[in-house]
Amino acid sequence: MAYTVLDLFAGGGGFSTGFQMARRGDSRFEIIKAVELNEDACNTLRNHLGENKVIEGDLTKKEIKDRIIAECLGVDVIIGGPPCQTYSLAGPARSGKPEMREALRTDPRNTLFRHFFDLVGQIRPRIVVFENVEGIISKQLDTEEELSKKQQIAIEVICDELESLGYSTRIEGDLVKRYQVLNAVNYGVPQQRKRVIIIANNQNQLNPTLDVLNYEIDQTLLQAIGRLPVVLPEISVSRMKSLINLNVITQNLEKSLYAFVGSIKNLKDTYKEQPEVNSDEFNKIIRYFDECLPKLLSKKYKKLIYLEEFLRGYNNLVKKYVERHLAHRQSHISREHNIRDVVMFSMMKPGSSSAQFMNKASLFYDKFLDELYPYDRTKHVDTYVRHSWNKPSNTILSHMEKDGLKFIHPDQPRTFTPYEAALIQSFPPDYVFSGGRNAQYRQIGNAVPPLLARSIGEAILELLENMDR
Ligand SMILES: C[S@@+](CC[C@H](N)C(=O)[O-])C[C@H]1O[C@@H](n2cnc3c(N)ncnc32)[C@H](O)[C@@H]1O
Repeated sequence: MAYTVLDLFAGGGGFSTGFQMARRGDSRFEIIKAVELNEDACNTLRNHLGENKVIEGDLTKKEIKDRIIAECLGVDVIIGGPPCQTYSLAGPARSGKPEMREALRTDPRNTLFRHFFDLVGQIRPRIVVFENVEGIISKQLDTEEELSKKQQIAIEVICDELESLGYSTRIEGDLVKRYQVLNAVNYGVPQQRKRVIIIANNQNQLNPTLDVLNYEIDQTLLQAIGRLPVVLPEISVSRMKSLINLNVITQNLEKSLYAFVGSIKNLKDTYKEQPEVNSDEFNKIIRYFDECLPKLLSKKYKKLIYLEEFLRGYNNLVKKYVERHLAHRQSHISREHNIRDVVMFSMMKPGSSSAQFMNKASLFYDKFLDELYPYDRTKHVDTYVRHSWNKPSNTILSHMEKDGLKFIHPDQPRTFTPYEAALIQSFPPDYVFSGGRNAQYRQIGNAVPPLLARSIGEAILELLENMDR
């Protein structure tokens, strides 16, 4: 039996992919339409779901909405999560529930909700699965007391909205809560990622709670991305002179460059089973370091010019390495980094962050890294995070399209590639994202991890089977 699904705000298809994976005996899901505004994400969806399954457009527009309703009436399940920036819900809600409700209805930033509920009301699926970021229940507020009060309010308003459309949000075994906070790491995803879901049905049934899956071994980064081909980054040269704290590098050139070069040389040993680190292209890079680094360090004057020349030579060799060993999978190529950052990546201990290397009381305190840190310390101090192999990843963010500094590889001097981010999100290894590197990071970072979605889907299949009985 195939139950039909409409995916609203479908992005690059994480939610749909998980629902497609879900199975209970002969029961499964068929995605009949996925609605999405972004062109790159739509191309990804067309590639995986099929050309005629995607409605590309703004679902707040009448013609798109009419089309969705016409093509999806009678669908069993609507899944989706309006994008998170609409969650400015707690702000205007200081004075209580009615105002909150009103804000939800009238604040233009929240209109996407209105359209989501509007479509639910008109299509009337049997089940709605609403997914969103944890921020929906924990807005930054002044006092603890206010926090708990408003946590209730924001999420309750959304549940109330569904109830008013005739959907029960009650959960089995829980008389109070109408939503669940799920951490993807408990569903086979090698990542700490908490998401809020509301399951609602219009058949007056209790909605299922999702049991945590018990894995014998924790999902780790090593299992997810540990055996991929080694990736080396190119280093930006043209804008090097304007780099903040470049003087710290040039005054400590030997220490800086040996840290970077050492981190690449170590890869030959760490990955000795893998052919690419034994290739001519990789060996040429190592030989280049051995020949050219001492020459560069022996220069007394114009060190910056020689450094630029050294990095250009390295970049040329990396290009050849990439062409030969990585070009078949474009999503597993590193973005370019600057010399300060690759030095910092190389020196940071796996499993540590800039908040630690700048904290004199921390075991990870490092005076040199502290001097290199280029950002405003009164704001975010955990800008740089180097991951470790034996733990799950931190939450993959769409912010990776801007920079990947919170996602530094455990032993290579670079940040995660889109391919690594997608595997950490539990996308199948052959899942291809359309668009350039940044568009890919955005789709991946926004996605519901397919393995989490699969667990949700399997619970929904059971609910549908119960309804049919
Ligand atoms: C959080 S992402 C969804 C991720 C998706 N559920 C997944 O698992 O891959 C939200 C998506 O909503 C899309 N979106 C935003 N406004 C929209 C609108 N008015 N109409 C259609 N899609 C919209 C965005 O382009 C974005 O891809």
